Amino acid sequence: MTDRAHDEYVELNRRHWDDHAAGWHGPLARSEWSAEEPHWGLWATPESQVSVFPDDIAGMRAIELGCGTGYVSAWLARAGASPVGIDLSEKQLATAQAMQEEFGLTFPLVLGNAEQVPYDDDTFDFAISDYGASLWCAPYRWIPEAARLLVPGGRLVFTRRSPLFALCGQPDGEASTTLLRPQFGLRRLDWGEGIEFTLPHGEMLRLLRSHGFIVEDLIEIQAPKPAHRDYAEVSADWAHHWPSEEIWKAQLAG
Ligand SMILES: C[S@@+](CC[C@H](N)C(=O)[O-])C[C@H]1O[C@@H](n2cnc3c(N)ncnc32)[C@H](O)[C@@H]1O
Repeated sequence: MTDRAHDEYVELNRRHWDDHAAGWHGPLARSEWSAEEPHWGLWATPESQVSVFPDDIAGMRAIELGCGTGYVSAWLARAGASPVGIDLSEKQLATAQAMQEEFGLTFPLVLGNAEQVPYDDDTFDFAISDYGASLWCAPYRWIPEAARLLVPGGRLVFTRRSPLFALCGQPDGEASTTLLRPQFGLRRLDWGEGIEFTLPHGEMLRLLRSHGFIVEDLIEIQAPKPAHRDYAEVSADWAHHWPSEEIWKAQLAG
């Protein structure tokens, strides 16, 4: 990717989040900050089912890459970790800050690109991205950055859309039950609302391994039946048959 193409998608995504998405996403923050148990993704999969946080999370220095309104970092802080959140959108961080004040829970919030984090090498024990860098950043940029930030033995966990969703998703409607685009070459998707990235499984596995990660799990999420809701881009029925999202867990070699 040329530097120009890179600058373009980062700027497009910043504008998308600041000028458009923060407006509908921000008001959802309060219920996430209030959640008693963490839950993940579109289908609100409870933490007890997927163990996104390591058992020994208390005391860990954690970075959330693309923290948005900061609720994952808030859950981390309540679990005893010391989180830092970084996000590209000033408006998303303004909501995160308002939530910090409302809930009396503070941790550093950094305005910046999760592909170039202003912290030294080997600073964190845990890196997480919940539909943040994991979806909106170029994988060949943010995965090496996560590896750089983590200490040897550090953990990386991220949630993202599944490759199958990326093959069947439609810009103006629900995911199709037929394949709409090729998997070979799948990478960058322009839905007309910012630029998303989804690497196929084999490429993601090799990318993680090439930066020293050992992949510990890949959980493909099945929507429960009944689910709490449908979404414009994917119905609960679709996601009961095929995974629309997934969780990766990896550990940097010690
Ligand atoms: C769907 S939200 C996910 C974050 C969090 N889980 C939440 O729901 O608030 C996606 C976030 O990624 C952020 N983002 C997009 N591109 C980014 C980048 N290059 N660096 C850091 N954050 C980025 C957006 O500003 C947005 O807040």
